[in-house]
Amino acid sequence: MKIAVLPGDGIGTEIVAEAIRVLDALDLSFEMETALVGGAAYEAHGHPLPEATLKLAKEADAVLFGAVGDWKYDKLDRPLRPEQAILGLRKNLGLFANFRPAICYEQLVGASSLKPELIAGLDILIIRELTGDIYFGQPRGRRTAVDGHFPGAEEAFDTMRYSRPEVERIARVAFEAARKRSKRVTSVDKANVLETFQFWKDIVTEVHKDYPDIELDHMYVDNAAMQLVKAPKKFDVIVTGNMFGDILSDEAAMLTGSIGMLPSASLNSSNQGLYEPSHGSAPDIAGKGVANPLATILSAAMMLRFSLNQAEAADRIESAVKHVLASGLRTGDIWSEGTKRVGTREMGDAVVAA
Ligand code: NAI
Ligand code: MG
Repeated sequence: MKIAVLPGDGIGTEIVAEAIRVLDALDLSFEMETALVGGAAYEAHGHPLPEATLKLAKEADAVLFGAVGDWKYDKLDRPLRPEQAILGLRKNLGLFANFRPAICYEQLVGASSLKPELIAGLDILIIRELTGDIYFGQPRGRRTAVDGHFPGAEEAFDTMRYSRPEVERIARVAFEAARKRSKRVTSVDKANVLETFQFWKDIVTEVHKDYPDIELDHMYVDNAAMQLVKAPKKFDVIVTGNMFGDILSDEAAMLTGSIGMLPSASLNSSNQGLYEPSHGSAPDIAGKGVANPLATILSAAMMLRFSLNQAEAADRIESAVKHVLASGLRTGDIWSEGTKRVGTREMGDAVVAA
């Protein structure tokens, strides 16, 4: 089992170190190799995703990624910014399915901004398509308008695009994932207005014929945004496009209290994957030893389950995390009255011990 370890910037190095200690505590043997990525790679090699880092990632069974970015790079040209590394990895590894589970741990019900009864027991999975949609569609750019409301005015445009195979493969991923859960998929679209998403809806409906054991419903994205805060537990698996998924997954993340708890996986068609916490490099708390390492530790558990075929080890990590939360240990982001505040390292120690 070969793992490429890319800690990145800011708190990335601190939280990945704890995930590695947790992996080391399992009695499995991994081949782990670390490389620079993001701002750290830019400083050393002048590029956020050096050739050697990309090669290591491609050759590994899985990539464990921390976070990249810092405000000090905001003035760099877009291709040199740390965040380009993650886009480059997605593209080069063909990672098209982004899994973002939003689970509300019993002990953290009070950390959410929603009423406890709405989120107690919440366990939903958002699957976001990562390669298509308006983020990458061509043509895009700026020009002088020849028609529309203001002919002759300066305008900008992007193109929303999905191909049949792109929609088919993400639909299959969603139905397969639902088979291992409560067998319900909600496909989120905007078919009432957008041709791209009428096409999406038609294809998801077709693919569904191969999964008669799964219940499928369709929901418009505006309604989905509303239902996520009104009755989030009504969902099980949500599958949607790149842009709607970007927005809804952040909304869902916040239901559970802290972004410091949320893992993610991005997979390609051969189950090779990149695993990272949903949060960024948190420059405001970097170097202070206070970041919550649990999102990264839980991402390592997803890595074991999806890419390394070690479901039992993944279960062990997830139950260790629950045990540590039940024992009352909290990093600052999830701390509340009556619990014990600990740092990144102590949280890692506790998970290793559990
Ligand atoms: P962020 O997620 O880094 O931080 C948002 C807030 O949450 C901050 O107050 C931070 O202290 C807190 N936070 C995040 N993770 C935490 C943890 N594990 N424990 C405790 N508190 C935590 O997002 P922000 O501030 O918008 O972006 C900072 C940098 O990260 C930017 O350069 C951004 O581009 C980059 N970024 C990178 C991502 C990636 O590597 N995949 C994803 C999102 C942002
Ligand atoms: Mg986002």
